[in-house]
Amino acid sequence: MRFGLCGLMHITSGRRRRSLDSKLDKLDDWRRTHYSSDLSPQLDGKESVVFGWIASIRHQGNITFIILADKDGFMQITVKRDEVGEEFYEKVQRLGAHTSIGVKGVLRAISKAPNGVEMLPKEIKILSFATLNPPTSLYGRRLPSVDKRLEIRAVDLRRPAAQAVFKIRQEALKALRAHLIENGYHEVHTPKIISSATEGGAALFPLLYYNKEAFLTQSPQLYKEQLVMAFEKVFEIGPAFRAEQSRTLTHLSEFISVDVEEAYVDYRDSMNRLESMIREVVKEVSERCVNELKTLGYCLEMPQEFKRYSYDEVLDILSGLGYKLDWGEDLGSTHLSVLAEVNPSFYFIVDWPAQTKPFYIAPKDKYSKLSESFDLMFGSLEIASGGTRVSSRRLLEKRLKEKGLNPKSFTYHLKVFDYGMPPHSGFGLGFERLLMILTGQSNIRDVTYFPRDQRHLTP
Ligand code: 4AD
Ligand code: MG
Repeated sequence: MRFGLCGLMHITSGRRRRSLDSKLDKLDDWRRTHYSSDLSPQLDGKESVVFGWIASIRHQGNITFIILADKDGFMQITVKRDEVGEEFYEKVQRLGAHTSIGVKGVLRAISKAPNGVEMLPKEIKILSFATLNPPTSLYGRRLPSVDKRLEIRAVDLRRPAAQAVFKIRQEALKALRAHLIENGYHEVHTPKIISSATEGGAALFPLLYYNKEAFLTQSPQLYKEQLVMAFEKVFEIGPAFRAEQSRTLTHLSEFISVDVEEAYVDYRDSMNRLESMIREVVKEVSERCVNELKTLGYCLEMPQEFKRYSYDEVLDILSGLGYKLDWGEDLGSTHLSVLAEVNPSFYFIVDWPAQTKPFYIAPKDKYSKLSESFDLMFGSLEIASGGTRVSSRRLLEKRLKEKGLNPKSFTYHLKVFDYGMPPHSGFGLGFERLLMILTGQSNIRDVTYFPRDQRHLTP
């Protein structure tokens, strides 16, 4: 379905705006009886009250067709001049796209309209005029750039494709939470204002906390580890902040991190949990969001298994294809693109060199240079990182020093380890990155309501 912006008024002076305001109706005791999704031919002959914004309005002889949008979809209001009378018909002629209205009328089954039903109106309330044209045609065939669309995000989110993406976001969130709670995990909230880095100092946002320096959290890592002492199985779905230096399609300065941590397990159990959690989310989304996936023209094929390649195997694969990497180096974007050709779907890279991983990741054994760690990938995109954690205070202090960090800054964390920290393991998953995969979007900003990056601190 395509919509024009016909009839929309242009920039309005204060006087004109006041005069338009005086033409507005009050909501009074009108209340909605149906959303568009409630409508069906079975309601033929029923009285109804609907609300929404005008997606398009088309005048054809003495009939005006209004396509009204609400949060669930579209409905057709058919205004016939000889049935509604002159005053009503005149009122309708002033309406333009995005204007917010309420309509009372009778429903009539008709095969051509959305949901197989149209409304023949008896009364109409104009609740808010759209006095400006959005800077870009939101409903045109060509999608304006993300930057343009973000200028007026609240309106951009009315696009059917955006509505589909964010409904999938809602279902995915529900499925993640339900899966974890059903499997005995306890939902926690950890501080977002913290005193020291966990994932590398460069990407920290500093702030003034009363008279002290503090930071926005990069991950709930240390707090979720502490919480396994009391709750054993915990998860958090919350914001994480990273002062990312480069602008890419997959990085935000503020993202939602899905963090899971569990006592008395190791990284193999965490990978199993992560895989079953993702399978569950994909299943729920594909069952519950059939229409949204259709709107997006997207279908995600799931692999039989999430293959597990060790870091050493990855090096062999890359070297077989002519890409050399020194042992211990992290994979760069070229290597990741090559791996995506070998495996374009979900797979794990496990047993990374300890030097590539943060201080809290456990080495494989005392003298090993490898760590009990993993990244979950989808093609070239990293979705999650995790591993078995160091649970000995002595080793954690050593690892901090090796990473050039000062153990004194972590006293609040280290001292907990003196009280019997159990072995534990977990992972952190980038929720927006998972959503890119669930919705087939190539820019992370398109799955984020109000993305934050180097260029966007507003809207
Ligand atoms: O790989 P990261 O940095 O790992 C951690 O934060 C660990 N504390 C996790 C753990 O439990 N061991 O971040 C986890 C995930 C990444 O795999 C990625 O999906 C996502 O968070 N992520 C980002 N998403 C969007 N924008 C960014 N700037 C991101 N940085 C990380
Ligand atoms: Mg990572």
